[in-house]
Parts: sequence; structure tokens; C-alpha cells
Amino acid sequence: MSTIQPHGGQLINQFKPDTPHQNIKKEINLDATALSDLELIAIGAYSPLTGFLNQKDYQSVVHDIRLSDGTVWSLPITLPVDSDTASTLTRGEEVRLTYDGVTYGILKVGDVYSPVKQIEAERVYKTSDLNHPGVKKLIERSSVYVGGEITLVRRIEKSSSKEYHLDPIETRKQFTELGWSTVVGFQTRNPVHRAHEYIQKAALEIVDGLFLNPLVGETKSDDIPADVRMESYHVLLKNYYPNNRVFLAVFPAAMRYAGPREAIFHAIVRKNYGCTHFIVGRDHAGVGNYYGTYEAQEIFSQFTEEEIGIQTLFFEHSFYCNKCEGMASSKTCPHPTEEHVILSGTKVRELLRNGELPPSTFSRKEVVEVLINGLNRNDENHRIGDSNEQSAQYHLAR
Ligand code: ADX
Repeated sequence: MSTIQPHGGQLINQFKPDTPHQNIKKEINLDATALSDLELIAIGAYSPLTGFLNQKDYQSVVHDIRLSDGTVWSLPITLPVDSDTASTLTRGEEVRLTYDGVTYGILKVGDVYSPVKQIEAERVYKTSDLNHPGVKKLIERSSVYVGGEITLVRRIEKSSSKEYHLDPIETRKQFTELGWSTVVGFQTRNPVHRAHEYIQKAALEIVDGLFLNPLVGETKSDDIPADVRMESYHVLLKNYYPNNRVFLAVFPAAMRYAGPREAIFHAIVRKNYGCTHFIVGRDHAGVGNYYGTYEAQEIFSQFTEEEIGIQTLFFEHSFYCNKCEGMASSKTCPHPTEEHVILSGTKVRELLRNGELPPSTFSRKEVVEVLINGLNRNDENHRIGDSNEQSAQYHLAR
């Protein structure tokens, strides 16, 4: 049975709905990223974190990819507050954490500090270019951080795919009930195309089960909306996967596009959800040309296996080869690149705009149909005044 230790040894639980908070006057308004981080800390997905990073841990994460006690941790999980609110905060006091006027949590105020965002950007994202969506977000958020332990008093209402929102304690239980002792986690912010399917199934040859764990928190505007992606996962799993070997649940975190740093974060979080293995393919969590194709794999060599505590499975860039008549990678295919079906996101969008379907060697026809329907539906919404940026643009693959 899956008994993999959570990161740091203990699964954190900071969801305490009965904690009195009505008398706490002060409040901090969260943005969507901070709200999802609050919940993910509380349910143990970010174990061993018990709150937003205090200054010492923040510095240590930014510079050394570790918490100050030495535990590997790659992304600074921070709570930005506006400077007026920040100036009123005193260490040790309790503050309500709200979103849209609703109280979700309580923060016991720790350090209030001003980060040097330029350094954070360069260390975490390896660039300070504002065209990088993670850097842009970092710079746009407030310039004072407050650290401290959190308590979650209310769960976030899930508007869709409710049954696919499971806490780490629940996925761990599911894996045990399924009798899986080895489980490979798969992170994605995209529909599952043939290359994704290929590396998932290659992994399934050596482990008991696949945990398909799409990220459904905030993504950039040209990534495919989560609801359309969910439909595409259902149709794919139904038609092409043995249903007793795959477990689907969502990861409600915001995407940071931090490439190598985010790959470590994604692996550790999936360990907390109960996975023993984790897939890292080409340019994991990358965007544009900011990271080398295999940088997100190479970064793991800075740590021992024990420090990471989940086994990584690295895959080469995969594609369909016309000569091989099957999926392959440079490790298995001797043919020239002209034989390889590799489509950029721009090319796929162009095909769809012209009413042409991407080939089934790139994406299963059932998946393409779902994407086209989703695209039309969202375009329709857009025409009738939906202001959601996501509905206007699509990004089918990088
Ligand atoms: S990500 O931002 O969530 O990493 P994406 O959904 O595209 O983006 O990728 C999910 C996983 O599949 C990542 O581990 C990524 O490295 C891997 N991957 C995506 N495309 C390929 C490919 N053509 N060959 C090998 N691995 C890939």
C-alpha cells in the first residue's frame, strides 16, 4: 500500500472550521493565488508548510531552494499585503483572511517584510523579464509580505468538477483502496495529447497506477480553460485507458511557469498526495524560451533522492514518427525530424481557425472534438459579453 511519507514527515492539517474568528477585527484581502495557497497549505498539499513564509524561510527558499531547516522547498509561498494594511500589523496578532468579503482563514502574524522582487524573480524564474507571466504576476502583487501560521475556517466553494477535488488524505486513502503501492503523478495544464499519453503509458508499464492531476488554478489567458480540459480528460480516459489503472483529481493551485523550480514543487506536492513517482518531461512548467528543454530535469541532480523523497521519471521530447508508425523519442527513433509530427501551439491554433483538425497522430480525435466544441462555446460566450479573457484565446500545446 502507498505509505510514502509526506514531505517533512507529517501531513499538515490546518482546517479547523470551528475556530472562532467573528471577533477578529482586522482583515487581509487575498488574491486568487493566495486564496488557493491558503487552502492548499491547510489540507497538507504543501506539507511541511503550516503558513505563509516568514522572512528567514523566504530568504532561504529564494537563495538555496530550501526552508531554513534545510528541507528542500523551491517556490516562495508568500502573502503580499498592501502597505497600508501592512503598517497596522503587529507580530502575534490574529487577522482574518478574506476573499470577496468572505472569511476563509486566520493568520497569526509573523514577519512583515519587503522582498527584493528583482532578486526573487531572477532566482526563482531565472529572469526579470516582465513578459514572463510568473514574473509579471510577482511584480504586480503588493510589495510587502506577511508571514505566519494559518488556519483555514472555510473551504472554497467549487463551482465545477466538485467530485474531482480531493485532499491529500483522501487521495492517499483512494490509492490504498485501489491496492496501488506505486503511483505515478502527472502534472499538466494542457489537454492530454499523444505525447503526454505516451509518457504516461510508458510509466504505467512499471507502476501500479497513474494519478492524472491537472492543475486547475489560475493559468495565463491563452492556456485552455480548466472546464474544457476536464471534458477532454474524461473522453480520453473513457476511450484509451484501462479505468482501473488511472485516478483523476485536480490540483487547484495557481500556475507559476517557473520551469525547473516549479518541477520540484510539483513533485513534492504530488508526494504529499501519495504518489511514489513523478513524471518530468520536456520543458516542464516552462513558458516561451526561458528554460532549456531539460532544465526542469537537471535541477533534481542538486539534491539527493532522500531529500526529494519521490522518484522522478524523466522523459525525452516525444512525438509521433511517420516512419516508425508510432510514438517515439530521440532515444528510440532513428529517423530524421521531417518524419516527426511536432506542432507548435501557434500551428494548432492556425489549423483550428481554418476549420482544420490537428492530425490524430498529434491528438486523439475525441480530444480535438471536445476542444473545438469548447472553443466554439467559449467564443460564443465571448461574443455575448463574457469578459473572461480565457474564453477568447486558446493554446493547445506549447
Ligand atoms: S506543464 O506546464 O504542466 O508542465 P504540460 O501540460 O504541457 O505543461 O506538460 C505536462 C507534462 O508533460 C510535463 O512533465 C511536460 O514536461 C511533459 N511533456 C509535455 N509535452 C511533452 C512532449 N512532447 N514530450 C515529452 N514530455 C512532454
